[in-house]
Amino acid sequence: MIEFINVRKSYGAGNLMATALEDINFKIEKEEFVSFVGHSGAGKSTILKLIYAEEKPTSGEIIFNGEDISKISSRQLPYHRRRIGTVFQDYKLLPKKTVYENVAFALEVSGYLTREIRQSVPQILDIVGLSNKLGSYPHEISGGEQQRAAIARALVHRPALIIADEPTGNLDPISAWGIIQLLLKINKLGTTIVLATHDKDIVNNVKRRVITLDQGRIIRDHSKGRYAI
Ligand SMILES: Nc1ncnc2c1ncn2[C@@H]1O[C@H](COP(=O)(O)OP(=O)(O)O)[C@@H](O)[C@H]1O
Ligand SMILES: [Mg+2]
Repeated sequence: MIEFINVRKSYGAGNLMATALEDINFKIEKEEFVSFVGHSGAGKSTILKLIYAEEKPTSGEIIFNGEDISKISSRQLPYHRRRIGTVFQDYKLLPKKTVYENVAFALEVSGYLTREIRQSVPQILDIVGLSNKLGSYPHEISGGEQQRAAIARALVHRPALIIADEPTGNLDPISAWGIIQLLLKINKLGTTIVLATHDKDIVNNVKRRVITLDQGRIIRDHSKGRYAI
């Protein structure tokens, strides 16, 4: 599904140029659950941004479903991004909309019919375990529930891939583990998951593939990996 071939990414220019990623090679198959781990500044978020084509590589190729997205045109960008759901540390929910409206809004802006929205949104909120919070506003629910709402919003377009950048960064360990279990369940339903985290306990409990980054390079790539850095 995703392949990085000799990818390098530098930010800035001239004397201020700094290399964030170097010599990055990996392949992620459909329906895998992969965690990128490493210290702050190791390059985890940059990998996710390259997958989402929010950043372009300085050199190398990024193949997504057989297509090179490293030189993707702005016209093709929306089509690429529609295949990917994004989840972040801060939930980015609209504060004046309810949980239901937050999820429905993502479909409204894509031109879905009211009938389709009324059918889809409750189904997705059921998957994330928020059926009883449809009418709540973000400030009325816990951080874990807000993240569930954000995950529901990421799922509405039925993406083939979810990228989650430190999705548990603002949560206590119990809520955090709940979010990871939800991502594992979504993975079981057929969605590929790419997670970036520096949470050691989470990575060690997930028991899936772990790619470890150190100063912009891959130093380890293990199936059923552990956090060791
Ligand atoms: N927009 C940017 N401009 C300049 N440098 C950046 C930018 N984004 C990230 N970096 C640098 O790239 C390196 C990797 O950052 P990042 O991918 O955010 O790492 P991580 O997510 O593992 O903390 C860091 O040295 C960071 O300072
Ligand atoms: Mg980061």
